[in-house]
Amino acid sequence: MFMNFRRIRKCQYVQLATTCFVLSVVMLCWEELDNSVVSHMKSYSYRYLINSYDFLNKSFTVSQQEADILRGHRYLINHKDKCAGADVLLLLFVKTSPGNSERRRAIRSTWGNEIYARQNLGAEIRVVFALGVHPNPGMREAAQQVLLEEDRRYGDLVQRDFADTFHNLTIKLLLQFHWTHDHCPHAHFVMSADDDVFVHVPNLVRYLREMDREGVRGLWVGRVHRGAPPIRRRDSKYYVPYEMYRWSSYPDYTAGAGYVVSGDVASKVYRASLTLNSTLYIDDVFMGICANAMGVSPQEHVFFSGEGKAPYHPCIYSKMITSHGHVDDIRDLWKAATSREVQDISSGLLGSLYCKAVRAALLCKPYYVDTYPCKSPSADCLGEPEFSEPLRFGAVDRAGNGNQPSLE
Ligand SMILES: *[C@@H]1O[C@H](CO)[C@@H](O)[C@H](O)[C@H]1NC(C)=O
Ligand SMILES: *[C@@H]1O[C@H](CO)[C@@H](O)[C@H](O)[C@H]1NC(C)=O
Ligand SMILES: *[C@@H]1O[C@H](CO)[C@@H](O)[C@H](O)[C@H]1NC(C)=O
Repeated sequence: MFMNFRRIRKCQYVQLATTCFVLSVVMLCWEELDNSVVSHMKSYSYRYLINSYDFLNKSFTVSQQEADILRGHRYLINHKDKCAGADVLLLLFVKTSPGNSERRRAIRSTWGNEIYARQNLGAEIRVVFALGVHPNPGMREAAQQVLLEEDRRYGDLVQRDFADTFHNLTIKLLLQFHWTHDHCPHAHFVMSADDDVFVHVPNLVRYLREMDREGVRGLWVGRVHRGAPPIRRRDSKYYVPYEMYRWSSYPDYTAGAGYVVSGDVASKVYRASLTLNSTLYIDDVFMGICANAMGVSPQEHVFFSGEGKAPYHPCIYSKMITSHGHVDDIRDLWKAATSREVQDISSGLLGSLYCKAVRAALLCKPYYVDTYPCKSPSADCLGEPEFSEPLRFGAVDRAGNGNQPSLE
């Protein structure tokens, strides 16, 4: 039995060594090979070998005039006073598109509700929906009227004059940082989230307060992509030509679905964007280039999900910050994730042990496509103790209204 085992192991070593050798030869000799395994290996080794992307700064720098031309889109809808006179803990941008009014409506009545945050968490947050104009010129005028009507009612849209398409996402990114600079420079933290993301605002606020208390600066937190390769397949949505980005790997960046920066980082990204060529349309990578130019690196937080959708369970809700891919279930999830049951089930020594076990069972399955990594059950994120500071859910509860103030 033992001998057998060793023989297998030996055999595997030989296989592995041969594979590595063949792969290295292929990698060295066949520059154009565009296989995703190889390009991942290549980009990963590239990242860890060079371990610095200083050259990007130089290569992407353009004059301020040239940068202005790339991003000089005027505002069509704006709310300059949204942050005025308030000590804003979090400015939350939701990246949305003209047609997604249903998603915006759901977000307003759940996680994107400023009144909920004020009454239940005692936190000043500001929620802004960032968007461009309808991509189809024939439908633009009608769509614009609908948007203006929506904005008259809620007063939370910020729109600039660019076609709202995938390839213009970097323009939307710049909108967020320029708007922050112009109208909300005092926000302690700035978040950017997609409109199909769920944000557990009570957990997020608790985390940000902790960061605030510690006087954290230079924070850029989310699901981090390290050594990600540019996609060279022309049929891919994420295709990037060599002329636009010629190196084997991108600098580190956080998944665009949801990330948070501290106010000082927001202002640095703004400054970097003034002299960088923003034609690279993968917005989260462009953010990586801006941050790299300012010497800021992203940090991983295990309960930011990136592309994945979190399992539905109270022990997950007690920790989650973002989860991706929620449209129809957002109201139900909000209700479940912020209910008192979540707090009850996960508090105390037993509750905390129970929840660790549950999270391990849910997140550490083989072949589980990740939302939160397997290490998260045991990780008390960045030293954060479990519910050391009880959430203040009481305010609205006592009035007998449940947890959900609704603007609808
Ligand atoms: C981006 O927006 C600009 C300005 O509206 C437009 O000319 C361009 O076609 C858009 N790009 C894409 C890919 O839609
Ligand atoms: C910006 O980069 C693109 C390639 O991605 C290039 O074609 C363009 O000339 C650059 N713009 C400036 C002003 O250098
Ligand atoms: C990037 O370039 C800008 C202007 O060229 C410079 O001010 C900045 O210090 C550079 N950043 C790094 C990290 O080298």
